[in-house]
Amino acid sequence: MKTIHLFANWKMYLGYDESNILANALIGEVRKMPPAINIALFPSALSLYSIALNLKETDIAVGAQNAYWLDKGGYTGEVSVGMFKEVGCRYVLIGHSERRHVFHETNLEVRKKVEAAFAEKIMPVVCVGETKEERNAGKTEEVVEVQLRAAFEDLNLPSDTRFIIAYEPVWAIGTGDACDPKEAERIHKEIAKITKSLLSDVNFSILYGGSVRAENVADYLAGSHTDGVLIGNASAKLDTFKGIMDKAAQFAAK
Ligand code: 13P
Repeated sequence: MKTIHLFANWKMYLGYDESNILANALIGEVRKMPPAINIALFPSALSLYSIALNLKETDIAVGAQNAYWLDKGGYTGEVSVGMFKEVGCRYVLIGHSERRHVFHETNLEVRKKVEAAFAEKIMPVVCVGETKEERNAGKTEEVVEVQLRAAFEDLNLPSDTRFIIAYEPVWAIGTGDACDPKEAERIHKEIAKITKSLLSDVNFSILYGGSVRAENVADYLAGSHTDGVLIGNASAKLDTFKGIMDKAAQFAAK
């Protein structure tokens, strides 16, 4: 059975108290999950430290939603990859659609963050995906390839390097308009092919993100190039996240 990643991107949905309460409530739920399921929480930077401390003895991992590539210095408002690592983050999201489209993060900045994550040995979760206009213009594969090339081309990585790519079509995020699971799987296959051509001897997993719910999660997990899901809205409430976890556990038990 493949490892199934259920990654919860809490974006800016929850305050400090809300985040800690939800993380606490998840401890008991995650204990009931089969070992094939790997759960990681991506709380706001503010809540992350106390959650990481609280989850230290559990199987729930913690990750950052974003990080700056330089280590230390006069960069008001930024937090470096190394600083997140120091407080217990195992993962860092890089190039999330909201970073790219709301905060105008470029492919070059994504690349610098990817390099910083590999240098710090914190696992990057590199997000790629096309807008509706790009999809309608038949440019999905091209856009994803440009994003992957920018992130990974010519990197010199040790052969045991592991990382994660999340395919999150922009139009499917927060809209309820989830990508058809077969289409997501088709793009994942393409992502795997491109990534293998850019980097040999590395180990990566591919996640789908965009309006994942309890009702559709198993359809994504069924894809042979799909190793899990990156969940936004539905991961920020106990009942909806639990619904997804239960469906993933049923899938894993098959
Ligand atoms: P939603 O699940 O709310 O569509 O968000 C997906 C996402 O952006 C996860 O990173």
